[in-house]
Amino acid sequence: MPHHERGQWGSRVGFILAASGSAIGLGNIVFFSANAYKFGGGAFYLPYLIALFVIGMPIMMLEFGLGHYTRRAFPESLYKVAGKKGEFVGWWALMNASFITLYYITILGWVMGMFAGAAGGLWKEATALTGFDMPSLGNPHGYFFAMLSSWRPLIFVVIVWGLNGLLVRRGVSSIEAAVRWFVPLMWLFMILLIVRGVTLENGIQGIWVLFTPDFTVMRDPAVWQGAFSQIFFTLSLGFGVLTAYSSYLPKDADNTNNAILTSLMNCGFEYIAGVAVFAILFAFAIVPTASTLAMMFFVVPQGIAQLPGGDPAIIGFGLLFFLLLLLAGLSSSVSLVEGLAASVIDKFNVSRRRAVTLFCVFGTLGSAIFTLPHVVNPSLSDNGTLGLTLLDLTDHWAFSYGLLIVGLLECLLVGWAFGATRLREHLNKNSHFKLNVIYDVLIKFVIPILIIYVLVMAVKSELAGLYGSAYVPNFSETFSWLAGSPMAVLLIWLVVTVGLAALFTFKGSYPDEGRDS
Ligand code: TRP
Repeated sequence: MPHHERGQWGSRVGFILAASGSAIGLGNIVFFSANAYKFGGGAFYLPYLIALFVIGMPIMMLEFGLGHYTRRAFPESLYKVAGKKGEFVGWWALMNASFITLYYITILGWVMGMFAGAAGGLWKEATALTGFDMPSLGNPHGYFFAMLSSWRPLIFVVIVWGLNGLLVRRGVSSIEAAVRWFVPLMWLFMILLIVRGVTLENGIQGIWVLFTPDFTVMRDPAVWQGAFSQIFFTLSLGFGVLTAYSSYLPKDADNTNNAILTSLMNCGFEYIAGVAVFAILFAFAIVPTASTLAMMFFVVPQGIAQLPGGDPAIIGFGLLFFLLLLLAGLSSSVSLVEGLAASVIDKFNVSRRRAVTLFCVFGTLGSAIFTLPHVVNPSLSDNGTLGLTLLDLTDHWAFSYGLLIVGLLECLLVGWAFGATRLREHLNKNSHFKLNVIYDVLIKFVIPILIIYVLVMAVKSELAGLYGSAYVPNFSETFSWLAGSPMAVLLIWLVVTVGLAALFTFKGSYPDEGRDS
């Protein structure tokens, strides 16, 4: 069976925009600030930077190199270098990433709802609260939970999935056309926000929150797990998407350079976003929160609500903030839809149209689960609605564990089954910046050992929490089984991801062709 025609990026700039568009997302704008705050502000920087240079960049080179060497999306590229077991890891990565995407798109739906609200309603007294006690300050707070406890987000979820479908309908060419606008706009909006933040009275001081180190926390393995997961998430590693993107590059592409450029752009963006967020919060003496969703949906908006300049400034910056989130999020989520579509097209020789339509339909259904407005905890903790509770639990496994596991497995497969040296030779062929043997050592030993260490420590504290019951949140009776057993979610996540990955791995086969390196 002949393969469908594979596209190619129109230009190197187009590729870099798309790769950095995938990398720059909600993770950069709010998750990073929340994590940095949670893990001790300045002290987070060191584990984060170590994770970037020791783990992030080398793995990005690996994922880019893999796609470029095999000219296939993630599962088939791993199949080509490591056989069936490799392919299974590839599909599992995509299944895990799909879980993340399902709730990521729900969050984007909420962002869209808040964007609509930012035009007016968000800044006024929230009304029509069902089940939640509205706290006295933060209108954004009330508005957000009022929206969450309605069915409105479902409409936004349908729209966001529709937009994703539209953006990947013609593969790289439609993605490239979109990111040419999205990514420069994101930078522009971010620069406007940071200028506003640091020119506020006291704004500059807020940055010190981000940089005042507290080195004692570095002894806590949770900080390292936090930094590692954040690096994987923010750089789009372990999703299997960058491999698909680089498979559309011309033969002479410089993957090493692309990886360095993409990761520096991403972390640069993350850095200035952190500065902007902390400047605005500090200027108005708002205490940041460690919860990423709270940060995005009411802590930062609370700061925007106090900007000088009256309604025009508040509405303007409010719209700008949520539009920024939306563009950043869309250019990330399309990368998964493309990564998945490319994988299925590679293997099953179906048309792009059919693959994309199918994902959008099932994706909408999946994301809808996280919009379920049933109120399980009226006391307005983070676990307000059933959808939110499920989101927390899914995030816990797919984000904090799944990505790291994929990272570990891809290093082992490529490092040992294929050979780190062979990959490095391929990377060096077209690269200005030549990697030396340290790269092999990183991929074969250092990264796997670091990830295993972090995972083992995390499981240990997981079990301690389980028996110490610190982990069981306060839920209403009906859904206490969910809370009491995050393990139930772990099981569902495992069964579904492993089952689907096996199904894709053992159904159908690849046309047996030679490697074109
Ligand atoms: N890097 C993105 C961020 O920082 C997250 C991300 C990457 C993502 N690829 C994705 C999210 C695919 C959903 C689907 O936000």
